[in-house]
Amino acid sequence: MVKTVSIWGSTGSVGKNTLDVINAHPHQYQVQVLTAHQNVAMLAEQAMACRAQKAIITRPNLYADLKNALSGTSIEVAAGENALCDSADMPCDWTMSAIVGMAGIRPLMRALARGKTVAVANKEPLVSAGSLIMDTMRRYGAQILPVDSEHNAIFQILNPAHHTAVTRLILTASGGPFRTWPADTLSTATVAQALAHPNWQMGKKISIDSATMMNKALEVIEAHHLFAMPAHKIDVVIHPQSIIHSMVEYEDGSMLAQMGSPDMRVPISYALTWPDRQASPAQRLDLTTLTPLTFEPVCTQKFPALGLAYDVLGLSSSHAAALNAANEVAVEAFLRGMISFADIYKINHKAVTRAPRGELASLEDVLAVDCQVRDEIQSELGFTKGEPLYRHQQAGVTS
Ligand SMILES: NC(=O)c1ccc[n+]([C@@H]2O[C@H](COP(=O)([O-])OP(=O)(O)OC[C@H]3O[C@@H](n4cnc5c(N)ncnc54)[C@H](OP(=O)(O)O)[C@@H]3O)[C@@H](O)[C@H]2O)c1
Repeated sequence: MVKTVSIWGSTGSVGKNTLDVINAHPHQYQVQVLTAHQNVAMLAEQAMACRAQKAIITRPNLYADLKNALSGTSIEVAAGENALCDSADMPCDWTMSAIVGMAGIRPLMRALARGKTVAVANKEPLVSAGSLIMDTMRRYGAQILPVDSEHNAIFQILNPAHHTAVTRLILTASGGPFRTWPADTLSTATVAQALAHPNWQMGKKISIDSATMMNKALEVIEAHHLFAMPAHKIDVVIHPQSIIHSMVEYEDGSMLAQMGSPDMRVPISYALTWPDRQASPAQRLDLTTLTPLTFEPVCTQKFPALGLAYDVLGLSSSHAAALNAANEVAVEAFLRGMISFADIYKINHKAVTRAPRGELASLEDVLAVDCQVRDEIQSELGFTKGEPLYRHQQAGVTS
């Protein structure tokens, strides 16, 4: 049977890999919706190549450009954040959420409230609003399929029947581009050096998060919510080869690991075909030519960001939302050359320190904290008012 699929953020690194997996079996999938934020040319090209039903560009002022690019086709065109959210209502068997940052939270919540199956790569909403998202999923009988390679690995090896026998989830981390740098040299790291991830080709935001190891902090919080695991049962170990994507340790001493090439098409394929499996275009591992697999503890003096995950999990959901919002602004500021690499941690730490304690019970609560923290830090850093940095409550244009 043909499966209908949509991809939010199809022009990004995960989005393109998802299309690659789908295109390996073109007769099995019908693409409903593709979305991008500003990359009109790539979105139009993708939509025509896979004969999508609808293409959505979230920057409202690009509607005419997309309409022009798709003129002469039967592909529907829409623009604006509301159009993105409305696409969650369209009938669809499987949706990939591959938007970067909190911009993905509204469509995700809408899809879950419609009982949909969503493959989630977009980790920031899970960090900011994990309890709310998981509660919504359970209430409406929806399904979240983890795509982040570590969480996909755990999803593959964690037997729910043995949940209480789990002693530890062990997330692996490559250590990023600065694993071997002396701690006191990190403050001089440039944007180009921070973007040069040794193992993975990814979008800019997650690449910087990997360099600070904030990515692993976000993933600890993500794992806590996805797998209902307390913080003290979630560990991180550096594994520079990125071959083992994570492990589960059970009380009898067994440790199960999932292995594969560092290729996002492996977890994407598993999420697409779950609970089955199918051939994917991902690279295969050749065990006989692999360099030795090594493991080392995280140097928390060099990568203090990891500790923030455990701090916020011991505080409140308001702290987690504040941490995520601060980090999104700080990473953007670093990419623009407004702050140093070391400032990212300082900004994040300060945001956690000054966040009020509180449990965020609704999407509005989450967005209120998110917007307040963004506004405070953007004004402290001197962002120009009104520039197109992501913020909720954008004007929506539908079509
Ligand atoms: N890359 C990986 O290998 C990887 C692995 C695990 C998890 N993840 C997670 O997956 C998510 C996506 O990562 P990525 O590396 O694929 O990011 P990316 O390459 O930067 O792509 C982001 C996508 O989101 C769209 N987008 C950006 N801002 C938006 C907004 N305000 N509203 C709506 N759409 C917006 C972009 O459109 P334009 O192209 O038009 O700007 C693009 O399609 C992140 O949360 C990341 O942490 C990524």
